[in-house]
Amino acid sequence: MLSAEFRFYSALSTLNSALRLNGIELSLIRQINALATPLSANLGIGEPNVEPDDTFRELAKRATMASWHYSANAGNLSLRKKLASDPNEICITAGTQEALYAIFQAYVDPGDEVLVPNPGFVSYATLAKICCATPVPYNLEPPDWQIGKLPITNKTKLIVVNSPSNPLGSVVGEEKLREIANAGPLVVSDEIYREIWYDAPPPSMRGMSPNVITVDGLSKSHAMTGLRLGWIHARADLLKPIITAHQYIATCVSVFSQALAEAIFDAKEWNAQWLDGVRQQFRTQRDAALYAIEREFEVKLDPPRGAFYLFVPSPVCDTLTFAKTLATDAAVLVIPGIAFGTNGEGFVRISYAASVADVSTGIERIGRWLRSAGR
Ligand SMILES: Cc1ncc(COP(=O)(O)O)c(C=O)c1O
Repeated sequence: MLSAEFRFYSALSTLNSALRLNGIELSLIRQINALATPLSANLGIGEPNVEPDDTFRELAKRATMASWHYSANAGNLSLRKKLASDPNEICITAGTQEALYAIFQAYVDPGDEVLVPNPGFVSYATLAKICCATPVPYNLEPPDWQIGKLPITNKTKLIVVNSPSNPLGSVVGEEKLREIANAGPLVVSDEIYREIWYDAPPPSMRGMSPNVITVDGLSKSHAMTGLRLGWIHARADLLKPIITAHQYIATCVSVFSQALAEAIFDAKEWNAQWLDGVRQQFRTQRDAALYAIEREFEVKLDPPRGAFYLFVPSPVCDTLTFAKTLATDAAVLVIPGIAFGTNGEGFVRISYAASVADVSTGIERIGRWLRSAGR
């Protein structure tokens, strides 16, 4: 007869999470956002402060009338046809996050190396670790955050590129993108911010070489973060194992979200106006943020060329403690640069996906806190 104590402890050990999740926690972004109160000026968020207009809501109402049954694993053919001339080159995914997960599951083995931008979006290194692979950071260096030499070895399986960049708002030039596309390994180009630009549309890596896989979606351009609609574009044979992985992750994407995406692409004139409006709103918020930062931090930053983030040199060295203190003592949320990799230390990410009033108030609160702390 087993003692109750033995049964208790053996049950506990079976509850250990899988080794592949060792050391992986909720991201620092989530941890900082958990400190928000109703009075916080939230400049930590990565989602657009944009609400659907009447036409958008009407499109959504109509989308509810489409079939509620499973679609093909790769997504409805009619939607895939709108995203590429060859629908076999598209897989619809539950946002770009699932797209990235499926790609890593399909291609990355234990022991492989995955090149990730430093600083860069938090998921890339984590996804490599979940595959028991090694994330190898490549440097993006201030002040202009350009990509230098890539540390490619014979173990490099994937190179991840993100332009426009979260957290930098920088855009990689076409020539550099072509060089990376033809460097040898598979390339995953995360283009989720491609529609959010200020001077000129950023170049896409789609089609730059047979090795390129692009991911994109409607989360940022259409403020549809909760509807989980993204897609992958790749050569049909490259896409095949990704669709297999996607089947076991999601089966298919919500058919409501797919029907809404189709309606958006069909409403061409409205969609063009919508995107112009989104860009205009972010430009106004960006300029308000730049103005407030220049006044409060006494630094003049180059305006970001895409996305909705400013990566600001921090007057306080330990940016994690700084961000936590600002959250609790000054009621303003920003993300410590270290959340995005070692090259991010010394910076904070300020998201201007917030109203002009919140952007101005938040940055003013930081300035007031710095002055009261004698910084
Ligand atoms: C660079 C980047 N890639 C991917 C994502 C994931 O977006 P989603 O899964 O909503 O498409 C985000 C979200 O913040 C992001 O910033």
